[in-house]
Amino acid sequence: MKAIIVHSVSKNQRSLSIAKMMEGDLYRIEHVKRVYKSYFIQLLVYGYYTVSNKKVGLKPLNIDFQKYDEIYLISPVWAGRVNAYMRQFLKDNPFKNKKVHVIASCEGGYKDYFNSMKPLIDPSNQIVEETIYVKEERIK
Ligand SMILES: Cc1cc2nc3c(=O)[nH]c(=O)nc-3n(C[C@H](O)[C@H](O)[C@H](O)COP(=O)(O)O)c2cc1C
Repeated sequence: MKAIIVHSVSKNQRSLSIAKMMEGDLYRIEHVKRVYKSYFIQLLVYGYYTVSNKKVGLKPLNIDFQKYDEIYLISPVWAGRVNAYMRQFLKDNPFKNKKVHVIASCEGGYKDYFNSMKPLIDPSNQIVEETIYVKEERIK
């Protein structure tokens, strides 16, 4: 069984579109606080949360990880790395012994993305996929 875990906030909802192409149980990471609509404010506030390692509030998801052998983590790259909300989800939900697919959406700047993800995933897991979408195009 597959759990598709997605975080997506831009008006294009690109990560969500990618997630909907996968077959499995879809879980959406949602903010406790309202999502800022302005891209400029998002860059300032969410960029700051991401680079400063700030703890952020997530709505509870209550995933029974025992049900799943594969986990898909799909989210936008922020500040070149795993964004504050996917990072918080992984800190709050440490799963083990899964096949993990790491998939990101971005505008082209993702140099540190996969490296920033690794310390957040328990070493008992196996990362079986690292995929990047730039805008709507899969490039890696
Ligand atoms: C705070 C913030 C930081 C971002 N940093 C990057 C970045 O470092 N590199 C990049 O290519 N895109 C960056 N973006 C753009 C998003 O990664 C991109 O628009 C993504 O496709 C949005 O996915 P979504 O529609 O699922 O939210 C950033 C966007 C925000 C809001």
